[in-house]
Amino acid sequence: MSRILITSALPYINGIKHLGTLAGSMLPADVYARFQRARGRETLYICATDEHGTPTELAAAEAGLDPASFCAEQHEVQHRLGRQFGLSWDHFGRSSSPQNHRLTQRFAQQLWEAGFIEERVTQQVYSNADKRFLPDRYVIGTCPHCGYESARGDQCENCTRVLDPADLLHPRSAVSGSTDIEIRGSKHLFLRQSLFSDKLRSWIESKRGNWPLLVTSIALKWLDEGLQDRGITRDLEWGVPVNAFEWGRNPEGQTPDIDGLAGKVFYVWYDAPIEYIGATWEWADARAQEAGTGPAAEADWERWWRQPQAADVKYVQFMGKDNVPFHTVGFPCTLMGVNEKVDAKGHWSVVNNAPWKLVDELKGFNWLDYYGGKFSTSQKRGVFMDHALELLPPDYWRWWIMANAPETSDATFGWEQFQAQVNADLADVLGNFVNRICKFTETRFEGIVPEGGAPGALDEKLEADVLAKLREYTEFMEDREYRKSAAALRQLWVLGNQYLTEAAPWTAIKTDRDRAAVAVRYGLNLAALFAKVSEPFIPFACEKISEALGEPFPATWPSLDGQGVLSALPPGRTIRAPEVLFKKVENEQVAEWRERFGGPEAETA
Ligand code: 2FM
Ligand code: ZN
Repeated sequence: MSRILITSALPYINGIKHLGTLAGSMLPADVYARFQRARGRETLYICATDEHGTPTELAAAEAGLDPASFCAEQHEVQHRLGRQFGLSWDHFGRSSSPQNHRLTQRFAQQLWEAGFIEERVTQQVYSNADKRFLPDRYVIGTCPHCGYESARGDQCENCTRVLDPADLLHPRSAVSGSTDIEIRGSKHLFLRQSLFSDKLRSWIESKRGNWPLLVTSIALKWLDEGLQDRGITRDLEWGVPVNAFEWGRNPEGQTPDIDGLAGKVFYVWYDAPIEYIGATWEWADARAQEAGTGPAAEADWERWWRQPQAADVKYVQFMGKDNVPFHTVGFPCTLMGVNEKVDAKGHWSVVNNAPWKLVDELKGFNWLDYYGGKFSTSQKRGVFMDHALELLPPDYWRWWIMANAPETSDATFGWEQFQAQVNADLADVLGNFVNRICKFTETRFEGIVPEGGAPGALDEKLEADVLAKLREYTEFMEDREYRKSAAALRQLWVLGNQYLTEAAPWTAIKTDRDRAAVAVRYGLNLAALFAKVSEPFIPFACEKISEALGEPFPATWPSLDGQGVLSALPPGRTIRAPEVLFKKVENEQVAEWRERFGGPEAETA
């Protein structure tokens, strides 16, 4: 049996995340982690805040804080909200952690010494007023093509032409508005990604048909367009410092330009994926701390990441489609690079006999839109995690998002459709079922799982139908097909309702108590089964159902061999009806929320 390592794309530190971010990474990863744990597999779900980069520095300045304090605060906020949403991270780390600093620097050193990093001087915009280099998109000016006055240095959003900051007329700093800017040369490190093209291509090709088409086609498109070497350092203060003074010679015998690289940090997209490993190390340290045994041994976290100990690990990543290139090209180059080396003549050799593990399964998502337009963090458009939780318990959101996961195409959130679906699935089908059967047990069977009566054709058919649907559902879950999984789960709930309607214990009890007892026993067992297998999607409601039925939570997944799918509850056990599981979303609420968050009229981004 394999161990399961799960990572979801690391949310940027600045700003509370909207439902779109949740849909494309953290929530599906959580559903998968909960499922795998229930299946009895040793599972590790790792996530963290992605903390470096210019946007962080600017957001911190806007908040009147230094970046470290800003990040510490925001990390707490995201951690709390994630937990409230039921995200069952084994560890929610920080890309600014000492562990990630160490790994990022160590990998860079190895890449340099192996010949995969080279130095180049790049021309960049420097703002004298802001006393900093400005990334391209923080230089604004007039577009030379269309005359738009607020074009950004990387692209004009009016005519969409790709720009270089030097193209702009009347350039100024987006930070301060100052026009006192100049072009300066600056030394930087480049990861020689172009060397990896063939290796990456055959690796991606080997995933074709297994990974979602969305993922392999994005990755291959990047390769087809020709891989560019990538700058992995920046002139910023907040980040992992470049530690070139520790590095040895590269295969050509050169040492790095220590002075030229002083004061630089690694690019956020270089250090962020390394934090998947860094956060695993943080997790191991935290556990060792708890156990009172001091810092973790390397083996504690490396067993998830390095061969041969990690040979039984299946590593699964979750992310939105914009992240796919960094995970199919950027990060794999880093990991392949630290496993090997290339000499001055271009010959490769393996230098690492405990190589780092590459991703096995990559689940990429399209966008979840808000009424056909973009959710936008900067424009505060759509529903964000904190507001969502003010309106409704997390299960409503979890269910709707996963049942409408943007898997094969973009999906759209709208209040009316949301209302219709959660009311139908959660309140009318699942909630109503559990409530009906538990209430009836309380009023007619003293709240006790009844004994007696022999199952008949209806009950046997139910068992067969449930088992077939459960197998189908389990398979979709293994395959991370969330829309299909949610549909199969809903069908399971519907089977329960149909059974209860047909078996009608409320009628049977008038003439045949044994017959009613069988129906009630099956009904209660269905409820127990639903609590077990719905837990990945709606853990909070499932906990309530399990408690009401005296069942353990979280539960283990039922066996699919046909034994005891509907006989977990021992006759004689006392149960009680849970409080109302799902209140219906009312029209007045929808009207109010549309007013507050905007409806279709808010379509333009
Ligand atoms: O797109 C994003 O939200 C990035 N912060 C994802 C980073 S994923 C990983 F590489 F860290
Ligand atoms: Zn333009």
